[in-house]
Amino acid sequence: MTDTSTAPLTGKVAVVTGSGQGLGLAYAQELARQGAAVVINDVNQETADRAVASIAEAGGQAVAVVAPVGTTEAATALVEGAVTAFGRLDILVTNAGVLRDKSLLKMTDEDFDVVVQVHLRGTFTCVREAYRHFKDNKVAGRIITIGSPTGQYGTFGQTNYAAAKAGIVGMVRTWALEMERAGVTANAVIPVAATAMTETIPFFRSAVEADRRGEPMPDFFRKELGFGNADDVAGLIAYLASDDAAGINGQVLGAGGDRLQVFSHPRPVVTEYRDGGWTFEALRAEFPRIIEGHLQPVGETLPPLPEELQPESATEKA
Ligand SMILES: NC(=O)c1ccc[n+]([C@@H]2O[C@H](COP(=O)([O-])OP(=O)(O)OC[C@H]3O[C@@H](n4cnc5c(N)ncnc54)[C@H](O)[C@@H]3O)[C@@H](O)[C@H]2O)c1
Repeated sequence: MTDTSTAPLTGKVAVVTGSGQGLGLAYAQELARQGAAVVINDVNQETADRAVASIAEAGGQAVAVVAPVGTTEAATALVEGAVTAFGRLDILVTNAGVLRDKSLLKMTDEDFDVVVQVHLRGTFTCVREAYRHFKDNKVAGRIITIGSPTGQYGTFGQTNYAAAKAGIVGMVRTWALEMERAGVTANAVIPVAATAMTETIPFFRSAVEADRRGEPMPDFFRKELGFGNADDVAGLIAYLASDDAAGINGQVLGAGGDRLQVFSHPRPVVTEYRDGGWTFEALRAEFPRIIEGHLQPVGETLPPLPEELQPESATEKA
């Protein structure tokens, strides 16, 4: 059993959305291990109850609030759930998510709306209600949102998810400015880990299978790709929630496997001026010179998978 009486997050209360399984569950368990009382949220009662039990068994404190995030009602229920069970709220992790991957012409309005509803609107509504609570109660709260490599680089077949995840990072930059005076921080974490969301991707197969066998994932995954299991990301979430991270605001931090990254915010890489502005004719004459050497890469460039880690070889080994 964990002794949480002297742990760094003792006395703090956290809400983690979508924490019945996967990364959210690992975040909730780590926050509890560091002393926080946790509100588990998911769409399924049984999953949420199992998550609560896992925290209780480890000596932590947790309750479940089952509600599909995306609406103001769900956001309010989560803040109220924290206050009713534990008397306060200090930390919000907006992790709930779904995928509806399709290339653009196959993507329906519904595919787009569902993903935006859960990730983007879910983050917006939950953060708004948590921040209201922080301000009203003078809490130096912590907002930790969850982005994705897709929101940073773009990924084929993920128009809806890219919109939502890039939007979350855009909101974080704005919230860092709005919340600073209240002593509240807002950051985004870009995780990569083996979960239900990623374990069917053939590229990651040999790592997922090693993990299932209880073996360490190959170094190539943990280092080159920053791909490990959910627990590898959880330390950063707890750190950002702690008093140690009071000066970390508006940042976008990548975590996975053995890797930790600080992402830059977009900045112009070239700035040129022309008296009278940039007419079509002026651009025709000047733009090839201006852009030369500055075309920005699109998409994430992954190193090639070594021969012995190809999915076919993994199947033979398993
Ligand atoms: N796994 C990765 O490598 C990876 C990479 C980048 C970003 N992410 C992000 O991390 C988060 C967690 O992903 P995961 O990999 O653990 O996936 P997961 O599918 O294992 O977990 C997502 C959880 O969210 C819950 N959920 C879905 N809709 C919900 C709603 N409306 N309200 C409350 N809960 C809801 C699901 O039931 C599930 O328990 C997501 O935001 C995902 O986009 C994951």
